[in-house]
Amino acid sequence: MSTAAIGIDIGGTGIKGAAVDLDTGTLTTERIKLNTPKGGKPDAIVETVVSLIGKLGGVAADTPVGVCFPAVVQHGHTMSAANVDKSWIGLAAEKLFESALGRDITFVNDADAAGYAESQFGAAKDRKGLILMTTLGTGIGSAIIYNGVLVPNAELGHIALDGYEDYEKQASFIVKENEGLSWKQWAARLQKYYSKLESLFTPDLFIVGGGVSKHHKDFLPLLDLKTKIVPAELRNNAGLLGAASLAAHGAGTRVTDEAQDLIDKASPADS
Ligand code: BGC
Repeated sequence: MSTAAIGIDIGGTGIKGAAVDLDTGTLTTERIKLNTPKGGKPDAIVETVVSLIGKLGGVAADTPVGVCFPAVVQHGHTMSAANVDKSWIGLAAEKLFESALGRDITFVNDADAAGYAESQFGAAKDRKGLILMTTLGTGIGSAIIYNGVLVPNAELGHIALDGYEDYEKQASFIVKENEGLSWKQWAARLQKYYSKLESLFTPDLFIVGGGVSKHHKDFLPLLDLKTKIVPAELRNNAGLLGAASLAAHGAGTRVTDEAQDLIDKASPADS
């Protein structure tokens, strides 16, 4: 198994990348951040990722590359677009990046990457049991980790709750900002959200990530839950560390070309 990998984290405003030592979870190159191209169209983002990887000096050409993205990623295809350009829906994103980069990559959901990173190097390191990671940002991302194994593509930000169709639109961090909610007002919404997740999953631990997790003292103590809830430890690097680890551990949602052909040919009724 490779102990070095490149991780790329594609977000709404920035694309971050670095090479990572997977034994220690530390960055072995400078972390480079480029602006996400306006409009967030696939070709422009691919071009930015190619240029970012080109800027990471001194990395062997066969180093595994993991890329994470804020959408459902099934077998290398982006299958949703809650907060990104709709042209990503149904796109063979992994292949698109591979053609542009001339090498294999592993393409995964951003919250899955962050959760996996926390289980490898952060708040859930060496912890057994059921861990639910949530990221509070523009959207609400989620990852389910059981005994260190990632169950991909949980989209728990979009649950219907409290009369709302999609609770991400009530409780994400951007909503707090846009509506000018106090910590207390926002925590009241988070209370409903985490109580619901608790009743559905009975997890052993909640981890809360996203940029706002650095202010965890302002809102986590306001929550009253049976489950322990802790801030993420890896902060800004969680996505790229997780993408890099998933690439090296071969744990993406990639399937063989043969299986992919069958999936591509299947009619919606078969799937
Ligand atoms: C998306 C998820 C993503 C999360 C965080 C949600 O709107 O549906 O796939 O993980 O935002 O970026």
